[in-house]
Amino acid sequence: MEKTNKHIILIGFMGTGKSTVGARLAEVLSLPFIDTDQQLELKEHLTIPEIFQEKGEEYFRLVESEVFKEVTQRQQPLVISTGGGIILARSNREILAGCNTVLLEASVEELYTRVKNNADRPLLSADKDLLVRIRELLASREDLYKSVAKLIIDTNNKEIADIIEEIVGGFSL
Ligand code: S3P
Repeated sequence: MEKTNKHIILIGFMGTGKSTVGARLAEVLSLPFIDTDQQLELKEHLTIPEIFQEKGEEYFRLVESEVFKEVTQRQQPLVISTGGGIILARSNREILAGCNTVLLEASVEELYTRVKNNADRPLLSADKDLLVRIRELLASREDLYKSVAKLIIDTNNKEIADIIEEIVGGFSL
């Protein structure tokens, strides 16, 4: 793939490893790393569950898009990991379509195993059966993720190092 100076942006469902892979990838490429959820928490002085609880999802999405726009407007190439819902706003999808966007995927069963003991994700703490909830949310988002991805990586049974290698190779970085 053509070498560009664009940001490398990791997208994908909750539990696909975007933050872990992003931090490692940034190290490997000697680029700054930014996690949009972390930026949101700094900006709002609240945790993600607190923002959802105190201000609601609509507000969260607005600030998420603001943060994403601000970060992606920076001139220096960055490795950016995003929250799983970044693809919901059209304006974010337009930005993603112009960057080196990598979609990390995992099976529903694998996602379930990775998120089940973590209470930090308000969208997965509904009363419903967690596996059903993951399946539904993923189904409603799958096409949006794929519509902006330049590279799609199946993370099932893969070490972080293998995933990094695929990304670096995929973009000829
Ligand atoms: C969300 C994903 C979360 C976080 C928020 C909403 C989503 O980020 O932004 O809880 O809508 O999928 P992670 O994907 O890093 O868990």
